[in-house]
Amino acid sequence: MNKIKDLLLNFFPLAMGKRLKSAIIFLAIVISIPLLIVAVRSQQPVTIDVLVWAVESEQMEDIVADFNEDNPDININVIEGPNETDQVEDLYTASFLLGDSPYDLVYMDIVWTPKFAAAGWLKDLSEYVSEEELDEFLEGDVNGGMYQGKLYRMPFRTDAGMLYYRSDLLEEAGYDPPETFSDLMEISQSLQAEEKAPWGYTWQGRQYEGISAMFVEVLAGFDAFWIDPDTLEVGLDEPNAIEAAQFLKSTIEEGVSPPGVTTYEEEDTRRLFENGETVFLRNWPYVYGLAADSDIAGKFDIQPMVSTPEGRSGACQGGWGFGIAESTNHPDEAWEVIEYFTKAETQKRYALEEGQTPTRRELFEDPELVEEYEYLPELLEVLQNAVLRPAIAQYPQASDILQRYLSAAISGTMTPERAMNAAARETRRLLERS
Ligand code: GLC
Repeated sequence: MNKIKDLLLNFFPLAMGKRLKSAIIFLAIVISIPLLIVAVRSQQPVTIDVLVWAVESEQMEDIVADFNEDNPDININVIEGPNETDQVEDLYTASFLLGDSPYDLVYMDIVWTPKFAAAGWLKDLSEYVSEEELDEFLEGDVNGGMYQGKLYRMPFRTDAGMLYYRSDLLEEAGYDPPETFSDLMEISQSLQAEEKAPWGYTWQGRQYEGISAMFVEVLAGFDAFWIDPDTLEVGLDEPNAIEAAQFLKSTIEEGVSPPGVTTYEEEDTRRLFENGETVFLRNWPYVYGLAADSDIAGKFDIQPMVSTPEGRSGACQGGWGFGIAESTNHPDEAWEVIEYFTKAETQKRYALEEGQTPTRRELFEDPELVEEYEYLPELLEVLQNAVLRPAIAQYPQASDILQRYLSAAISGTMTPERAMNAAARETRRLLERS
């Protein structure tokens, strides 16, 4: 150490006083410390934090690990959230409201876009991606990421509500797959009577976003609607919509659906199906891959949702994608992560390994994917006619109203008619207020 000091002191002209020399050296050291810190820091990878709902945070693990290995400058850090979309939404919302959000990326349900964009929590992604690039993705998924003409969310994987059924049981009993709600009830009751399964039909009835997603399909099936996003007309108290709610209640009353269905979310219903406890299941495509590894492997199939003869088979458009938090210090690195997740190669791998559905159109015709998931070409058609939940900034409040009253209707604390009338009134008040 003394040697270095002597060397440095000798570096200055002889005429310079020793104190002056020491002062200059001291100053040089003081100035270089922050530079050194910056230099060391810049060697450290930038961490991109993102909160992901539980099941998917596991499904993404390998993809994330590979990215981190190939990109020493960026480290994706997935924080595991709860399973329910609303609870994850609440966590993101709280972090943005409190300021200083720890999240750089926002892994978003398609229905969060209007609220998050209107609140100013997301960056406009238009500068990162061209129209031509967006054309490669499914239209509904791209539109679900737009708000007031700007893009806030890049679609990673899509979702559409489908009807799963036990093909082995239906075949054995000589039934064709159901087309109408009445077919579904009839087949269920007859297979239940033969003790082929304790329950006929299982769906998501808990008071959360899943019940709204499920209900838009029943509404379409009864040729009814929730809110017209262009005119803001509310259809919940129209006779067909009341009938739709009545149908759901009747599945429980007639013993086709378990009474517990009023507390079930996706994962509860998936377990019942995989355990052979229900003939039919309403769920998303992610169940396909998981059920193919379960005891009912090879004994089930999927088809579009049933309807009344006058209604239309409606699959709710769901799906997840990435937004960049307005508050992040690393938007460019966050975009690199988005590019990696949304490129065709990653989407294909995710589909093959985890059974999730891609958002790039070309992949619906990919021979390897179609061999694994025969339903893909049909799903593409289903998605092109998907039912949307109203893309309005007040969506969370509107959904909350529907969830509350529909839950009251199916659990018997209100008649479906009173519940739907009240839901319609409250929704109109909400829309008028804003
Ligand atoms: C799925 C869908 C999502 C929907 C949610 C409801 O995750 O992709 O859009 O809101 O289910 O539970």
